[in-house]
Amino acid sequence: MREKREIYRFLHVTPRRIFEQLDQYVVGQRHAKEVLAIAAYNHLKRIEYLKFGGEVSIRKSNILMIGPSGSGKTYLARTLAKILDVPFAYNDATAFTEAGYYGEDVEVAIGRLLYATNQNVDAAENGIVFIDEIDKISRRAGGLRTGSGGRDIGGEGVQQALLKILEGEKIFVPLNVTAHWNKYDYVEIDISNILFICAGSFSDMDDANDGKTVGFVEQNGANSREITSEDLVKYGFLPELLGRLPVRVELDELSAADLVNILTNPREAMVPEYQRLCALDQIQLEFTSEALYEVAYAALRQKLGARALRAILEKVLHPILFLGPERAGERIVVEADDVRRIVQQ
Ligand SMILES: Nc1ncnc2c1ncn2[C@@H]1O[C@H](COP(=O)(O)OP(=O)(O)OP(=O)(O)O)[C@@H](O)[C@H]1O
Ligand SMILES: [Mg+2]
Repeated sequence: MREKREIYRFLHVTPRRIFEQLDQYVVGQRHAKEVLAIAAYNHLKRIEYLKFGGEVSIRKSNILMIGPSGSGKTYLARTLAKILDVPFAYNDATAFTEAGYYGEDVEVAIGRLLYATNQNVDAAENGIVFIDEIDKISRRAGGLRTGSGGRDIGGEGVQQALLKILEGEKIFVPLNVTAHWNKYDYVEIDISNILFICAGSFSDMDDANDGKTVGFVEQNGANSREITSEDLVKYGFLPELLGRLPVRVELDELSAADLVNILTNPREAMVPEYQRLCALDQIQLEFTSEALYEVAYAALRQKLGARALRAILEKVLHPILFLGPERAGERIVVEADDVRRIVQQ
């Protein structure tokens, strides 16, 4: 079969290679990285298969990522797009409204993809659309959040609108993604190959499930279990929408050791970044391992996961960065006590 050979020649990536690249940036979350690597590989394979005239349909596998704040959901999706070198569009579900209300129509998500490719329709048709804060458009969240009372303009209506883009075929997309686009500037896009990744923290999931602990299995201990479709329906999602997000992945809460790892090891780690910054002023900046753990504990106390790390580090390094060039030639070691003193302020 000609087409099969062509596909394999084209795809010099494998799920393992995608995983290994994700691994250079994202700490922990082994399972999530594997699931995303497989989904991404299948996405590329599907595109190649169709390009070479494949006819049997391979269903696309849109993804739903669930995990605590600052555990790496958005970072994983962004890193994936960078690795795959496919167009990527970030969207915040809370900005979407049902057609006819003030706010963004869901089609804008595709418009952003087009914008990311400089209006290259072919490239956009194979891109990845990321929809963050998907938990905020659950049915019950809608009315509460927008204060619209009974009219659920931010919840079910948006879910209905998303249904048609998650597995749609051709839609008209605004060329201009700003709020006041000219209503005649549209282009037709085939969205059947666009991969959708939705993510949310679902932090109040337990309240929706009679106070029982669900999800985030690793850290919550014996009582927790995996989040099921039933849980998500109870939370306020349309079963049809869940059916269009067949790949589920739960991220773990990051431990203190993970956070220390994030500070020092991955490709975009913060500590080496600050060390380079100081080195430019001829300062040799170092942290004791205890100091790094103090930074991690401070982040854990804030319950923002890795998201809190940068602000804490900025605060800790403030006195050093302020004096900067005046201390040229010195070796400065940040100790646990320094961190404790500063984060308590
Ligand atoms: N597992 C991780 N490995 C490396 N860095 C991480 C990881 N998780 C988070 N980070 C860092 O923390 C920042 C915030 O994480 P991210 O935006 O991915 O959180 P999130 O899971 O999307 O949280 P939220 O639910 O609050 O949106 C990232 O930009 C990245 O620098
Ligand atoms: Mg996020």
